[in-house]
Amino acid sequence: MFEHLGSLPPDPILGLLASYRADENPCKIDLGVGVYKDEAGHTAVLQAVKEAETRLLQSEETKAYIGPAGTPGFNSTMQELVLGAGHPALEDGRVRSAQTPGGCGALRILAELINRAKAGTTVWVSDPTWANHVPLLGNAGLKIKSYPYYDRASNRLLFDQMVEALKTVGEGEVVLLHACCHNPCGADLSREQWKVLAEMASKQGFTPFVDIAYQGFGDSLEDDAYGLRLMAESVPEMLVAASCSKNFGLYRERVGLAMVIYANGGSADRGHSQMLSAIRGNYSMPPSHGAAIVESILTDAGLKANWEAELTEMRARINSLRAGLVEGLTAAGAGGDFNFICQQKGMFSFLGISPEQVQQLQKDFSIYMVDSSRISIAGLSSRNMEYFCKAVASVL
Ligand code: LMR
Repeated sequence: MFEHLGSLPPDPILGLLASYRADENPCKIDLGVGVYKDEAGHTAVLQAVKEAETRLLQSEETKAYIGPAGTPGFNSTMQELVLGAGHPALEDGRVRSAQTPGGCGALRILAELINRAKAGTTVWVSDPTWANHVPLLGNAGLKIKSYPYYDRASNRLLFDQMVEALKTVGEGEVVLLHACCHNPCGADLSREQWKVLAEMASKQGFTPFVDIAYQGFGDSLEDDAYGLRLMAESVPEMLVAASCSKNFGLYRERVGLAMVIYANGGSADRGHSQMLSAIRGNYSMPPSHGAAIVESILTDAGLKANWEAELTEMRARINSLRAGLVEGLTAAGAGGDFNFICQQKGMFSFLGISPEQVQQLQKDFSIYMVDSSRISIAGLSSRNMEYFCKAVASVL
């Protein structure tokens, strides 16, 4: 049965981890996968998570199944985190959600729901977008097209070209947008630009699909959801995939939310039954542990305040690393203008070097990043910044 199967190369992002781990150079730097690291290079469990987990271990009374939708408490607290309490869509009773295994689980289940509504629907993704968007959506049967988003030569957003491309998108098609901290380029839409897109969606009738994987890593929990919330007020139907991997540091626990805003309560109930059936036919139901931690944090004022403080600290560290990187590259004589790195948000930016230069950094300096030159900024620290900047300057 399997004799004829060819082998595939490792995943471009996850594959780097194995090479990094096998590298014995004590100076090695991992800027590959988007995982937050502290100054010491550790991805520590957040204190708020530890505390919630301790409480959970004491209070949990059963390991019985939780059902395809997950826990109602998790779903409702996450809906409020993403949409804001009292959002009109919530007040109208038009929102239905399911707890999913990570943001990936949410993307895939929402793609299946779209495909059930209309097989082979076209979904427009940004060029560039997160590499895994394409298989997650495409393997569910959706047709992928792309719109211009970021110019690697000038390091700026191509908003006019994006608008031109999206003018051709009509009813029955879907547009995938990154809520904040664009992965891979770090260049986000301004409030004015979100307003333009919300008007286009409302006028042309396409369905926005917003991926929010970094809420709190850009400006704040509220600011990072601005565009998503505005869009949700402007259109009758919308899809949202949320992830708790980064902002709660729950990566391996796989915690996410698939949320759909429907036109009315009737279609919400029917659509939700389809989503639950898609979940049952995939993985039956999500794991419980990570989502229970999130629910416990979001429903306890003290834990929530601690979590927000930790999130603020992570964001501040990334922003100071961005500033340090621009300074360091200039001091190392890298030439060129790297100031765009300070204006971008979240975990990633493109360094703007060629795949050959990326390979050279890996071979000669044990510095790991994806071929596009996307770097996961939190992998830098005051310990390795100078080494990194000098290495980059030497390959330019
Ligand atoms: C990334 O882009 O590095 C993260 O979202 C992790 C992943 O699964 O790719």
